[in-house]
Amino acid sequence: MWPVLTLDFNIFSTNDSFHCVNGKYIPQRKTCNGVNDCGDQSDELCCKGCRGKSFLCKSGVCIPNKYKCNGEMDCITGEDEIGCKEKTELLTANMNAEETEFLTANMNAERKWIKSLLPKLSCGVKPRLPARRKRVIGGRPAEVGDFPWQVAIKENEKINCGGIYIGGCWILTAAHCVSISKVHRYQIWTSFLHWLRPEDDIIVQLAKQIIIHENYNGKTYENDIALIELKRRPNQKECVLPNSVPACVPWSPYLFQPNDRCTISGWGREKDNQKVYSLHWGEVNLIGNCSRFYPGRYFEKKMECAGMDDGSIDACQGDSGGPLVCKDVNNVTYVWGVVSWGENCGKSEFPGVYTKVANYFDWISHHIGRSLISQYNI
Ligand code: ARG
Repeated sequence: MWPVLTLDFNIFSTNDSFHCVNGKYIPQRKTCNGVNDCGDQSDELCCKGCRGKSFLCKSGVCIPNKYKCNGEMDCITGEDEIGCKEKTELLTANMNAEETEFLTANMNAERKWIKSLLPKLSCGVKPRLPARRKRVIGGRPAEVGDFPWQVAIKENEKINCGGIYIGGCWILTAAHCVSISKVHRYQIWTSFLHWLRPEDDIIVQLAKQIIIHENYNGKTYENDIALIELKRRPNQKECVLPNSVPACVPWSPYLFQPNDRCTISGWGREKDNQKVYSLHWGEVNLIGNCSRFYPGRYFEKKMECAGMDDGSIDACQGDSGGPLVCKDVNNVTYVWGVVSWGENCGKSEFPGVYTKVANYFDWISHHIGRSLISQYNI
């Protein structure tokens, strides 16, 4: 695909020179080649392809080929360390005289040391291997431990919505699922799968606080996102949710792309509008340029569409507020979307619409604290 592009590797480039973010100008041909010519790395960002001996990360960053399979993650989503053969063999093969120079060695050691100081991520990884096996229209039943971030939001003995545990005492859900005046009525059920066959270790939590996005629009579903802070038990400083694992909050809208396969889950209605009693899940594809399905109603930056070409798998009434999760190459699970709306359910011409969580990274971290949701917090 990219060799077709001769110029304009970097979307911020003009014809013959590139204006770095730090104000410097460099020749166009030096952009997207894995070398930090600007000094601020801006010539290696937003690339559509990479020149010379460099490798294109999914995030649009070009890294030198020699960083591939060097035992360290250089692409933010780690694909430079995927499919590597014997690490040491490749490492030596990649070494050249220049790299063994003292200065470079020192810089590498320093880079490694700085990386080692990054806080370790504690989200999106299940403690044990997931069961082999999808509410969801066309979904399949979940097994214990499959969706440790999934919560049910109960109001008056009914599950109206799902939610997503994102760490600490915090649950992410849809704004249309909650209202601030009803904060005392909500029960948040974690480790819960089946209505009629409740697991012993269900934990029921009450809500302490509800934060609804200040620009939520109930007519258009724009900014359909809210946070629930759970009440701590008496004498407890932290929220203890023994069998729950937080889903990671995506920090960049480029982490996942159209056609990536992701998963939805919930207790919502089935195709024939039947009620379901157990948590169901299904796999859906992210769908690009969704305005063609919803002209004038789809807001590209704030929403994400997902579904199957034949509409066979979809979220439905009752799934709202629940997760659309995607896994990166390292099998880390991110909450990419919050079930928000859709015309009918399971119709190929009307995919499900989700709140695009990556776009609310700043909003979420403002309320819950950046250190709680990201390893990239420095
Ligand atoms: N608004 C619905 C709810 O409150 C979710 C609808 C999702 N619809 C869809 N076709 N994906 O549960």
